[in-house]
Amino acid sequence: MKDDNFYLIEKTILVTGATSGIGFEICKQIANAGGNFIGIGRNIEKLQDFIADNRLEESKAIKFDLIEIDTIHLLVSNLSIKIDGFVHSAGIVNVSPMQFFNYSDYENIRKINLDCVLVLFSELLQKKKINKNASVVFISSISAIRGAKGNGLYAITKAALDGISKVYANELSSKRIRVNTIQPGMVETDMFMQAQDILSKEIMDIDRSKYPLGYGEAKDIALPVIFLLSNASKWITGQSIVVDGGRSSLL
Ligand SMILES: NC(=O)c1ccc[n+]([C@@H]2O[C@H](COP(=O)([O-])OP(=O)(O)OC[C@H]3O[C@@H](n4cnc5c(N)ncnc54)[C@H](OP(=O)(O)O)[C@@H]3O)[C@@H](O)[C@H]2O)c1
Repeated sequence: MKDDNFYLIEKTILVTGATSGIGFEICKQIANAGGNFIGIGRNIEKLQDFIADNRLEESKAIKFDLIEIDTIHLLVSNLSIKIDGFVHSAGIVNVSPMQFFNYSDYENIRKINLDCVLVLFSELLQKKKINKNASVVFISSISAIRGAKGNGLYAITKAALDGISKVYANELSSKRIRVNTIQPGMVETDMFMQAQDILSKEIMDIDRSKYPLGYGEAKDIALPVIFLLSNASKWITGQSIVVDGGRSSLL
């Protein structure tokens, strides 16, 4: 008997951060699961090529800078269809000890990791662009629950995403809209390369050795996201799920 609970057939998912790393892999896996995506980012060429190469006629890439919070309402007004899922994967890092707290750096990281999603999600809801039974996933981080040195600003934004996701989950349960977060450990993407540029090889090697299953790859996060977007997870909401190769729970 065929069971399509794990597929995304006839579902359209809006994905921020769709142009690189985890978000790009999520788009690939949405297509693999039979769904369509609307991917958002500034550098959309790679995503456009992927859409063209695979003849994904119902999927598209939208060039948009999420720092332009005041224009997010236009992005939503221009959406011609209702979505069945929303993933916020766009994110930036800022590595600096809290002793050197800088308000403008804080505002910058907060806008991309947190503020834009508050505005975008509320616009989507108010303009009735989200279907009943939709699933929403925010990409958080284990930095939200573990105090990594230099990750203070990042941790603030990710902990806030985890906190607000539970409020959304409660407020939207009557529409059967589910909201969860995934908390990845270190995943080898462009963001990881940035960390590698800042920290010494010795520090990175020590960090890597603390991952029982090694560092992750984008697919290790994308596939659990597909599960959360699919009907297979229809009784899961308000959860923050750690996906970190065992980093945070093993001695
Ligand atoms: N990699 C890790 O180790 C790791 C660990 C835990 C959590 N995470 C989280 O996972 C998510 C994805 O990270 P990643 O590793 O895939 O990083 P990445 O490869 O650097 O991708 C970041 C994405 O964010 C988008 N973005 C950044 N600034 C933007 C802006 N102003 N407007 C629109 N889009 C913007 C980028 O698109 P454009 O450049 O095209 O604009 C890109 O698609 C992030 O939320 C990150 O915090 C990553």
